[in-house]
Amino acid sequence: MNKTEKRKEEHVNIVLNEDISAHHNYWDDIRLIHNALPEINKDEIDLSTKLLGKRMNAPVIIAGMTGGYSGAKKINENLAKTAEFFQIGMGVGSQRSALENNKLRDTYGVVKNYDIPLRIANIGASQIVRWKHKECIDNVLKIIEMIDADAVAICLNFLQEIIQPEGEAEAKGCYDMIKYLAEEIDVPVVVKESGAGITYEVAERLMETSIAALDVGGLGGTSFAAIEHYRAKAAGDEVNERCGKTFWDWGIPTPQSLVEVVEVAKGKKEVIATGGIRNGLDVAKAIALGADAAGVAQAMLKPATVGEKAVAMEMDTFFKELEAAMFLVGASNIKELHEAGVELWI
Ligand SMILES: Cc1cc2nc3c(=O)[nH]c(=O)nc-3n(C[C@H](O)[C@H](O)[C@H](O)COP(=O)(O)O)c2cc1C
Repeated sequence: MNKTEKRKEEHVNIVLNEDISAHHNYWDDIRLIHNALPEINKDEIDLSTKLLGKRMNAPVIIAGMTGGYSGAKKINENLAKTAEFFQIGMGVGSQRSALENNKLRDTYGVVKNYDIPLRIANIGASQIVRWKHKECIDNVLKIIEMIDADAVAICLNFLQEIIQPEGEAEAKGCYDMIKYLAEEIDVPVVVKESGAGITYEVAERLMETSIAALDVGGLGGTSFAAIEHYRAKAAGDEVNERCGKTFWDWGIPTPQSLVEVVEVAKGKKEVIATGGIRNGLDVAKAIALGADAAGVAQAMLKPATVGEKAVAMEMDTFFKELEAAMFLVGASNIKELHEAGVELWI
């Protein structure tokens, strides 16, 4: 196992064994408004929606997490089985390692064996910025082909890059490369933060590009600074251990980032809310705040290491909770949920 494979395995193991969430989950500050006279029946509730041109049974995607070491294949397979069964979207983790080592392709490519309505390829922004233009297109087409993807996510992960010892904190030229890529390839491009959120101003810049969607990836759930804190601790690296602790709660809370990005996107680009989504009620809150879908990572990872039944049970619970929230606000479909009232609970 080389260093990259080892790092990917460590990331997953730390998430499974330590508490690496931000210290506050900001979805707890949002409350949907109860409707004591909802005037709908449970069986009329329709959770289905469209995202990036694909029809899904609910506005939920399993956010990209893993691939790139042997143990990741089973995790991606268990997640893929659930995405197929529930007909929802699914992403994989950064595919860079499979571009460098053909033997790892399978750890991502396994998702091709399942009839998933929306498969999302993934590559880090800190990676594309290091490629020349043609190299970038070639590599992105390769990762799309690797999982037969319907969309590709460019992951903004600069918090992680600056904290992790082997990080590549090179962000110069990133915007131009995203813009170029989105113009050149036919597959929809999603720009995705991974825990630190996107502001109104950054979203405004991204609106000038041909990307199809923004995933706000805000603060409140998995903290990569926390993950790197634990990695550094295990390696006896005190500087990075402290640095990870200092930046543990860095970023823009997901609901706040969502409201800012939705305001800019105004229906012209789709918006996904990832970061701290723990259940179907959080999904409902995200939709009510204007998201087209919610992305969930950590909550699915633990069950995915247990087995396919455990992931299916988790997702079944998400569906039931989303349906319950819709019933209790009197929304019979996703469009009506968009219009449901929310209040801040401080
Ligand atoms: C173990 C792990 C690995 C991840 N790797 C990636 C990655 O390679 N690319 C990416 O875009 N996001 C990655 N993410 C971030 C997730 O997609 C998601 O944005 C983040 O975990 C916040 O969601 P959560 O709070 O539901 O976990 C990873 C998350 C986890 C838990």
